[in-house]
Amino acid sequence: MTVNLATRIGSVELPNPVMTASGTAGHSTELARHLDLASLGAVVTKSLHINPWAGNPAPRVHATAAGMINSVGLQGPGVQAWLDQELPALEATGARVVASIWGRTVEEFTQAAQVLAAAPPSVVAVEVNTSCPNLEDRTNLFAHSTEATSAVVAAAVAATGRPCWAKLSPNTPLLPDVADAAAQAGAQAVTVANTLLGMAIDPETRRPRLGAGRGGLSGPAIRPIAVRAVYDTFAVHPDLPIIGVGGIATGEDAVEFLLAGASAIQVGTATFANPRATQNVLNELTKWCTAHDINHLSELTGAAHD
Ligand SMILES: Cc1cc2nc3c(=O)[nH]c(=O)nc-3n(C[C@H](O)[C@H](O)[C@H](O)COP(=O)(O)O)c2cc1C
Repeated sequence: MTVNLATRIGSVELPNPVMTASGTAGHSTELARHLDLASLGAVVTKSLHINPWAGNPAPRVHATAAGMINSVGLQGPGVQAWLDQELPALEATGARVVASIWGRTVEEFTQAAQVLAAAPPSVVAVEVNTSCPNLEDRTNLFAHSTEATSAVVAAAVAATGRPCWAKLSPNTPLLPDVADAAAQAGAQAVTVANTLLGMAIDPETRRPRLGAGRGGLSGPAIRPIAVRAVYDTFAVHPDLPIIGVGGIATGEDAVEFLLAGASAIQVGTATFANPRATQNVLNELTKWCTAHDINHLSELTGAAHD
């Protein structure tokens, strides 16, 4: 018996639930010589700004006990250059593409989303990275406020005219409320979650190890937090599709997120240790489902809840 791993994320049908996580698979075909991008549920690009963006000063990554801390700072070519120069090669692989966008103001999100309105059908969805600094409210990330999340998601939905997913931050106790705000504003799904804010200091230099000081912690260290975040979000919004992400490195890790309430998952940091990690997670998930007589993914989603 072949297991049916197809999953529906709002209006988007994916053949399986395993995707790359934004920022860990490049902007185009960087992983294509290691795995078949078309075999994945989707490939999520690094977040794109309306303009080319230089990112943060080096060093940008530092290995931690069970993961890594990064402050890449959203370096990228800008949405239009990505459409013109990076997307064609990615599209040629047959991959389903999710374009991630970011901005520092609602207007910048609107502009980036507007450019994507002209993207080809291979761009199946837009992931709105709300875990970035809100210049109009210097104390906060968009994702830490229900109002700000609502504003950027509504702007992106209206401007792009394609399915939008809101990528949320685990750095706030308001996460289920923010998820609600994103859904009310038109997000067809929420991606839970981005990195956790952290810092590493070099005892010799007495200075932060990352050029930007703080950074985002990712990898196995954050998996229990991400699983909890998915569980809490599903408990409040069982009908809102959730894409789980945070420390997934094996098929069993993916199952944990599905049981917590995810309809799909993304693999990020594991790719830096093994560029085939996303494909391996997919293969292992398929084997796990076969061994456990799972016919359809929906048998797993949210099954850890009473
Ligand atoms: C080097 C690096 C760059 C990242 N860049 C982005 C990004 O551009 N946009 C985004 O939404 N998330 C970004 N993330 C967060 C990941 O997509 C993911 O949410 C997070 O790392 C947790 O998953 P993981 O533990 O599997 O890596 C980045 C993560 C890393 C490690």
